[in-house]
Amino acid sequence: MIGIFDSGSGGLTVLSALKQYAPHADVVYFGDIKHAPYGNRSREELGALLVLGFERLLDRGATRIIAACNSVSASVAEPLIHFVGLSKSDVIEMVEPTVERLAAERMSRIVLVATKATIESGLYQRQCDRVGIEVVPVAIPQLAGAIEQDVPFDAQAAYIVAALRSIRVPADALVLGCTHFPFARSAFETVLAARNLEMPVIDPADFVAQGAIERFGISGGGGSIRFVISADSVPFRQKVSQLFSGFPYTIEFAREP
Ligand code: DGL
Repeated sequence: MIGIFDSGSGGLTVLSALKQYAPHADVVYFGDIKHAPYGNRSREELGALLVLGFERLLDRGATRIIAACNSVSASVAEPLIHFVGLSKSDVIEMVEPTVERLAAERMSRIVLVATKATIESGLYQRQCDRVGIEVVPVAIPQLAGAIEQDVPFDAQAAYIVAALRSIRVPADALVLGCTHFPFARSAFETVLAARNLEMPVIDPADFVAQGAIERFGISGGGGSIRFVISADSVPFRQKVSQLFSGFPYTIEFAREP
């Protein structure tokens, strides 16, 4: 069974893409709402939360995991996954499939919007550099938390306006390097249009879902989704019912810690 891990709602964008290609896949999803947002945490904290999150998924029958959180991608590359008994081929994270696709599409310069943790890890910048893509990194530290709490559109747009202030010319694309950000896609598009910065907005969820299907060879299953959350959240429940009402799903709480 596939496990999906995120700090909260962001991984739902990846789950939604996965379900488009493999509706029959049985999935267990862990959203660590109690510790969200992840994007302002240190690498040490993120590593510890990753191990706990992966253990929760493995305890519930996951055998392969999609780390649907860019902020933990740097930790996935570490020996931590061996610590929970997985090997590198059992896990797919966000950065590698995204950069592969950007390279295949012959991008030469992108604006990367992401959390502070993702930008400071330098992971996108290093991997893009290897394939000749220039990255203009833009951290938006407040946005994932605002989306998690479902703050109004105007407040989300204000964070985006402030973050993109230094961008003067368009790039080949603006890449949403945080799985929460596709929920604010229309706010990004509105801000880019208002600033005359014409460039496509790319949500990598699709690339990662396709990469997971290729790597894990998902077949069979009844299409069920078991959501496990570390704290209750009305916005999370609303997003789940909007996106997955066509699938048999349950929502339960993870026990401490
Ligand atoms: N959705 C996650 C990411 O892609 C985490 C965002 C957060 O919790 O700050 O980075």
